[in-house]
Amino acid sequence: MKNFMFICHMILIDTHTHLYLEEFDEDRNEVVQDAIRDGIKYMLLPRIDSKSHQVQMELSGQFPQNCLSMMGLHPTSVDNGFEKELEVVENELKTGKYIGVGEIGIDLYWDKTYKEQQEYVFRRQLQLAKEYNLPVSIHTRDSFDEIYQIVSKEHTDELSGVFHCFTGTQEQAKQIMDLGFKMGIGGILTFKNAKLQEVVKDIPMEFLVFETDAPFLTPAPYRGKRNQSKYVVYIAEKLAEIKNISLQEAAETTTANATELFKLNTL
Ligand code: NI
Repeated sequence: MKNFMFICHMILIDTHTHLYLEEFDEDRNEVVQDAIRDGIKYMLLPRIDSKSHQVQMELSGQFPQNCLSMMGLHPTSVDNGFEKELEVVENELKTGKYIGVGEIGIDLYWDKTYKEQQEYVFRRQLQLAKEYNLPVSIHTRDSFDEIYQIVSKEHTDELSGVFHCFTGTQEQAKQIMDLGFKMGIGGILTFKNAKLQEVVKDIPMEFLVFETDAPFLTPAPYRGKRNQSKYVVYIAEKLAEIKNISLQEAAETTTANATELFKLNTL
């Protein structure tokens, strides 16, 4: 009973979740309601591109207190037609409906063909984030140096955000902290022998937020299955274990960090 009460009072935030993707077409509402019941107060939805935009907006329209949308163009959606997609992002941001600019960044793992275009689109969206005073959610895959160079160049006091799905080195963590950015910690933390466990030990709590990146990167013990926002608790448990703090403290600190970064207290 005590344990039950404890879990009931814990509030977590999933700062990066793609609940609008087709993997949730059959049970999307249930997945969101389950998460809310388990104390996931906010599920932040980074955008990918125009293809999934409508379902995303329907979801945040249906759960306006819990599912909050970001606006952005994902690096793997950048190709020769990027100008049209970028224009959509620019126009949508004017509506003031969004809590952040994301998911933006550079991905050189899948395809390097559009590297230059990806860099241009990333830089442009950082500028938009500054213009609208919104935090960014950054996707970095085989591209840390490229990302770091561009963020450093665009950096001002107004620019804030999170390096989503952080799996970098201690040195990279230090670079991110020097920029005043946060790191999004996801299911990889729970994977056996993940080197992230060692790196995270030395990162002060004030720089960490939680995320699932659902439906991807499912934490243990559900690794291999579809990820969902309520599983953020397994990431929190692992972090508490690594940091030798209580689950409550891990939840409270990361929730406060995410609340401040995405200005959720003003909602
Ligand atoms: Ni993502």
